[in-house]
Amino acid sequence: MNIRVFRTPSDAGIYAASMLERVITSLERPVIGLATGETVIPVYDALVNFVRCGLNVSHVTTINLDEYVGLAPDHPQSYHQFMNEHLFSRIGIRMQSTHLPNGVAPDLAAECERYNEVIRNHPIDMQVLGIGVNGHIGFNEPSHALITGTHVVNLTPETIAMNARFFSRKEDVPRQAITMGIQSILQAKQIMLLAFGEHKADIIYRALKDGIRTDVPASILQLHKDVTVILDRQSAARLGL
Ligand code: F6R
Repeated sequence: MNIRVFRTPSDAGIYAASMLERVITSLERPVIGLATGETVIPVYDALVNFVRCGLNVSHVTTINLDEYVGLAPDHPQSYHQFMNEHLFSRIGIRMQSTHLPNGVAPDLAAECERYNEVIRNHPIDMQVLGIGVNGHIGFNEPSHALITGTHVVNLTPETIAMNARFFSRKEDVPRQAITMGIQSILQAKQIMLLAFGEHKADIIYRALKDGIRTDVPASILQLHKDVTVILDRQSAARLGL
């Protein structure tokens, strides 16, 4: 794994955005896998700046990792809204070229199949990942077994508690999500894993240095041949670099 440590999340975001730019400018039909959450905001801010300075994204397809079950695309806390607010509306990407699971699909099993088909039809060139403090990637939560394809997941109490910061009432925090599975993530040609802050230092150590375990889902990335880990000094603190 290629590990890069930056002084600030915003420096790291510029580096991550230039990696994305390389993929976007070198391929005829680039497919970028995207994440939501606090970590990726500096990446999207930097990418928006690149687009404002002339980067063309009209040929890009995006595939997001996950969406909450029960939140419609126009719900303010949905990942659809997050993506519109932080990236899509700011870069003027065609909405037909963006893909997220539908958290209010009447048949969730069929929705998972539909999403697997979307991923099959658009092999991901570069996957952007954050990491949960419990080691989840997408919403592949710690478990005795990791699921390969898109699935509905019961979020762990830890993840629900972390997500509560974005909701005004605790009882409104979704308990389930649809997430891309581990195999789909590992099939991406390149992966970047980002983590910032002291609260991620422990899980970054466990994910990168402590063997591969299903109760630390991100540790499976050790098997992938092209992963770049993008950290700030705080999240890298335990790596002894
Ligand atoms: C969300 C996702 C999650 C987040 C993770 C970190 O699409 O894939 O795995 O990346 O929960 O969230 P933040 O960045 O808010 O700490």
